[in-house]
Amino acid sequence: MHALIHKAANSLRLQLQEREGNLRLDLQAPEVFLKGDRQHLSNVIFNLLDNANKYSPEKPQLAVRTYREGDDWVVEVSDQGIGISKQNQAQIFQRFFRVSTGNLHEVKGFGLGLSYVKEVIVAHGGSIEVESSPGKGSIFTVRLPLQNRKM
Ligand SMILES: Nc1ncnc2c1ncn2[C@@H]1O[C@H](COP(=O)(O)OP(=O)(O)O)[C@@H](O)[C@H]1O
Ligand SMILES: [Mg+2]
Repeated sequence: MHALIHKAANSLRLQLQEREGNLRLDLQAPEVFLKGDRQHLSNVIFNLLDNANKYSPEKPQLAVRTYREGDDWVVEVSDQGIGISKQNQAQIFQRFFRVSTGNLHEVKGFGLGLSYVKEVIVAHGGSIEVESSPGKGSIFTVRLPLQNRKM
């Protein structure tokens, strides 16, 4: 998993550099291995990081933190971007849902990333949550069971 995170982080580094952003990695419990679909899990990490970058209007301050909690492996992707209101938080995992940002700035997307992310995580027996306040930023927390009975 940490190798996948490094790969996703590296593929975003140039964009972040150009935007004078920063990505901090705090990866704990390196001995952890998960049984899962490498490509889909890699897409999950990339999608969350891509959103964190896209929805940070200036100098993206991103972080990825991983740790082990009981029988779960946890990864948090956080940003200090535009954030998401409580009302919208309830809908962002639905297909095609995008928060309407008015004419603030143009961010492209299909509104499919998070529904895909959630589907992949649930298929691995895990869960995803968001914690966010508008104007302050967001934290997406993914939990994956280390003993996956579904796979
Ligand atoms: N890190 C984030 N910060 C603020 N808003 C976000 C973030 N991630 C997702 N969103 C909101 O949730 C919506 C759905 O995200 P997603 O499914 O990835 O679609 P897309 O990025 O293609 O618009 C986005 O349009 C955006 O409004
Ligand atoms: Mg997206």
